[in-house]
Amino acid sequence: MRRETGIAALLIVLALVAFAGPVAAQEESCITCHRGISPGQVTDWETSKHSRARVTCSVCHGDAHQSAADVDAVSFPDETTCGECHEEKFEQFAKGKHNFGWTTMNAMPVTHLEPDVLIEGGRGCGGCHNMGIKTTEQKAEQLAKGYRYQTNSCDECHTRHAFSKKEAQSPRACQQCHMGFDHPQWEMWESSKHGERWHAKVAGFLPEDAAAPTCQHCHMQDGDHENRTAWGFLGVRLPMPEDEQWASDRATILKALGVLHPETGEATELVATVQAVDLARLTEEAWQTERDKMLKTCSGCHSPSYARQQLEMGDEMLKEADRLMAQAIDIVAGLYADGIIEKPASYPYNYPMLLFFNRTGGGDMDKLSYVDQVLLEMYLKHRMRTFQAFFHVNPDYAYWYGWAQMTKDLGEIQELARTMRETH
Ligand code: HEC
Ligand code: HEC
Ligand code: HEC
Ligand code: HEC
Ligand code: HEC
Ligand code: HEC
Ligand code: HEC
Ligand code: HEC
Repeated sequence: MRRETGIAALLIVLALVAFAGPVAAQEESCITCHRGISPGQVTDWETSKHSRARVTCSVCHGDAHQSAADVDAVSFPDETTCGECHEEKFEQFAKGKHNFGWTTMNAMPVTHLEPDVLIEGGRGCGGCHNMGIKTTEQKAEQLAKGYRYQTNSCDECHTRHAFSKKEAQSPRACQQCHMGFDHPQWEMWESSKHGERWHAKVAGFLPEDAAAPTCQHCHMQDGDHENRTAWGFLGVRLPMPEDEQWASDRATILKALGVLHPETGEATELVATVQAVDLARLTEEAWQTERDKMLKTCSGCHSPSYARQQLEMGDEMLKEADRLMAQAIDIVAGLYADGIIEKPASYPYNYPMLLFFNRTGGGDMDKLSYVDQVLLEMYLKHRMRTFQAFFHVNPDYAYWYGWAQMTKDLGEIQELARTMRETH
């Protein structure tokens, strides 16, 4: 807590203690009326530590709205409101990767081809990427489109209005977003030995103190709200590896991510975006810092040599996956070069583009060739699984849902390219 706010809060608490008797009689109008309008919210708030500390409705929503006629006068608290009383958590969050969720999503070319409701409405991309403190301009842009909710990231793990610590400590708090198509961390972890242990503990088959690492144990150590991993989502980094084949494969992937120019191999202007939203670790130190933190965490329960070997096998798997990926990109790039695939207007180069994420989109993207779609799925779904599963200790995802599917994709791309050339 910031000192002045701390003192102010203390004074409020003291004042409330002094008037402890008539608290119920003094109940805020908000609570009285909302008991009738939205009783579930009031009950939920009553379970919170906030209700005991008299952090009432008006503390977060202001008191300008007092009836159904003036609802527009209500304010919705952003993260800085929470930060007034929880400065440490706010500062940590602001330094971490979650704080880039909204900005990264908007930095993707594909986002602007999607219907607004999938972005601002908080059900598609925006449902998970509503992470990060929005700038005044970003909020104004949302409002102009008619969307006034989704102004707070803290309630993504501490669901309103209970705002509970215990709820956020459950790995299920991460599940809604870290699941599915391109980042099935929930599924991988849950069906790993680590997840099995957690289930056994929750069911009471193992004692409270039994070791069972959760998402938070490895990614929010000691409650630290700053989060980031070494390889990140895209599974690329700088500097380039010493191994020549791997360096060449990674360069091919970086070209297909639009970060290196497909002909010159020079860095493109997208590098600035990558840097601005911390999309990948761009120095050895940045990568090693995260790796060392993780090694220390594993070493709380495994021998350091065991832990190091496990993580290095993950790196090795990424190298193998990159070999398959680069071969596939080269084949599709050949189809572009020979004019067999027509470059979609939104693509920056006459070259496949992996950052277009989706398989079909608005207008121009509807023309995305089938072979391009197989390539996108190979990268987003199957390469992700192959390496993410190594880091989350899940053999089935690593092999059957990951590697095996990548080899199938490569075979399909080879076959498609052959017939496309024959029939062109
Ligand atoms: C006399 C009844 C009444 C009082 C008093 C009242 N509200 Fe409301 N409030 C409403 C009604 C009705 C709605 C629902 C409007 C709707 O959904 O169209 C509402 C909606 C809201 C919303 C949601 C707005 C939205 O756009 O979804 C918030 C937040 C809110 N009230 C907070 C408060 C706070 C804080 C106070 C006290 C300062 C308060 N209310 C006092 C009746 C009241
Ligand atoms: C600690 C801060 C905090 C307190 C206290 C608080 N709210 Fe909220 N409330 C929020 C946040 C955060 C949101 C979500 C804002 C958004 O989506 O932009 C929200 C959203 C709402 C909404 C609109 C969304 C919905 O689900 O209907 C209503 C209505 C509401 N609050 C009513 C209340 C009432 C009534 C109280 C008191 C019993 C209360 N709030 C107390 C933080 C708070
Ligand atoms: C006016 C100050 C104030 C504001 C604003 C505020 N809080 Fe709190 N918060 C508190 C106090 C006081 C506690 C209780 C601390 C305790 O009992 O240890 C608390 C407790 C919490 C806890 C821990 C609950 C638990 O189960 O242990 C969480 C999580 C939390 N707040 C999140 C939020 C979020 C998210 C927001 C913004 C939407 C917010 N707070 C806004 C004062 C505030
Ligand atoms: C189910 C929730 C969910 C949906 C829907 C979703 N994302 Fe994500 N996205 C995530 C999560 C979680 C991550 C981080 C995954 C990881 O690191 O493995 C992520 C990562 C990303 C990244 C990489 C961020 C980085 O810095 O590493 C981008 C870019 C991105 N998403 C864009 C989008 C776009 C654009 C859409 C819609 C077309 C979308 N996402 C839909 C949850 C989602
Ligand atoms: C990604 C999920 C996540 C998000 C987002 C998140 N928290 Fe937390 N928060 C947690 C977890 C997990 C804990 C429990 C940490 C622990 O075990 O000590 C926690 C604990 C807390 C506590 C209780 C601290 C204590 O030890 O009593 C407060 C207060 C809090 N968070 C505030 C916030 C605020 C403010 C924000 C937004 C800036 C926020 N949190 C966003 C996951 C999250
Ligand atoms: C035993 C520790 C551990 C647990 C438990 C764990 N992770 Fe991870 N996680 C890792 C490691 C190790 C990496 C890779 C770090 C690197 O890049 O070197 C990672 C990477 C990630 C990434 C980046 C993309 C990727 O998958 O490689 C995300 C996002 C993530 N984890 C989320 C989660 C979520 C959500 C959970 C819970 C469902 C979870 N993790 C459980 C250790 C763990
Ligand atoms: C509301 C959705 C949402 C929830 C809930 C959520 N995350 Fe995330 N998480 C994201 C998004 C989106 C990103 C990518 C941020 C970006 O674009 O930079 C991300 C990124 C991450 C990363 C960084 C991966 C990297 O690229 O290095 C880790 C680690 C992570 N989350 C762990 C967690 C854990 C642990 C929890 C639960 C305590 C959790 N997340 C809850 C949406 C969520
Ligand atoms: C909180 C304690 C804890 C932490 C932290 C932890 N583990 Fe584990 N891990 C276990 C337990 C318990 C088992 C099951 C017993 C065993 O196989 O050793 C296990 C099992 C494993 C297994 C073997 C799975 C099998 O099927 O045999 C691997 C591999 C593993 N962990 C890797 C890691 C890595 C890598 C990290 C760090 C990213 C890590 N663990 C962090 C407790 C932990």
